[in-house]
Amino acid sequence: MQLGINIDHIATLREARKINDPNPIEALGIVERAGADQITIHLREDRRHIHDEDARSIVTLSRLPVNIECSVNPDIIEIIADIRPHRATIVPENREEVTTEGGLSLDEPHFANIDKSVHYLKAREIETSLFVDPTIDAIRGAKTIGVDWVELHTGSYANLYAMLHTNLSLTHNRIDDLALNRTKLKQLLKQELQKIKDAVEEAQEFGLRVAAGHGLNYQNVTAIAQIAGIQELNIGQSIIARSIFTGLERAIIDMKELL
Ligand code: PXP
Repeated sequence: MQLGINIDHIATLREARKINDPNPIEALGIVERAGADQITIHLREDRRHIHDEDARSIVTLSRLPVNIECSVNPDIIEIIADIRPHRATIVPENREEVTTEGGLSLDEPHFANIDKSVHYLKAREIETSLFVDPTIDAIRGAKTIGVDWVELHTGSYANLYAMLHTNLSLTHNRIDDLALNRTKLKQLLKQELQKIKDAVEEAQEFGLRVAAGHGLNYQNVTAIAQIAGIQELNIGQSIIARSIFTGLERAIIDMKELL
C-alpha cells in the first residue's frame, strides 16, 4: 500500500499567521526519509493554503512523485499543465467548504469540463485521477473519460466511524446529520465500507488504478487498508496533527506501520 502525504495542512498553519513559517518545502526530505511514497498538495482556487510558488517549488524540489489536487477552473488547469506534476487529481471545489466535502459529480455540465481538463493534462503527460464518491456510476463515468486513477472519497466512512467509535458526538464539532443511535451508525458504517469495496471491484474490472482518501486516521485506516485493490492512500490531517506531538517523521512511520 502506497502512502501519499497531504502536506498542504502545513501551509494552512503558515497562512493562519500569513507569514513564511512553517514552510511545506521543509517537509519534503522528512516525508521521503520516513518512507512515504508521494507528496500530495491541493492548489485551491482561493489559495487558502498552498500558493502557486509553493506548488512550483514542491514539484521542482521533491524527489518523490507529486500529486496536485485541483478543480477544473481553466486558470488552475493551465497552471498545473505548466508546472507538470506527476499526477493531477481533479476534485470538486466549493469556496464555502472547510474541506472537500464530496466526490465529483460526473453529470452534465460537469462531465464535459472534467473530460476536457483530463485530456488537456494527459496530452502533457500528466497522470490523471478523479476524486469520486464510491459509487458504481462514478466509476463508470471515470472509465468513460479515460483517467488513469480514481481516488475514492472516504469522508462518509470517516464521519460514521468518528461518530460511532470516538467522542466526537460529545463535542461542539459533532456531525448533526449523524446524531443516530449506535445500532444505526454500525449499520451505516458497514454499508459504507461495502460501497467502497464494490467501487474498488468495479474500478479494477475497468483497469483503473485505485487510491482512497479523506478523513483517514490512525484509528479508522485499517479497514480501508485491508481492501485488496486499493493501491494508495492519501492522508493529511491526521498525520500533520500527530506530528505536532511526535514530529513529522515519527507520525509518518507510525502510519506506514499500520498500513
Ligand atoms: N485526498 C483528497 C483528494 C483530498 O482532497 C484530501 C483533502 O485535502 C485528502 C485526500 C486528505 O484528506 P485528509 O487531510 O482528511 O487526510
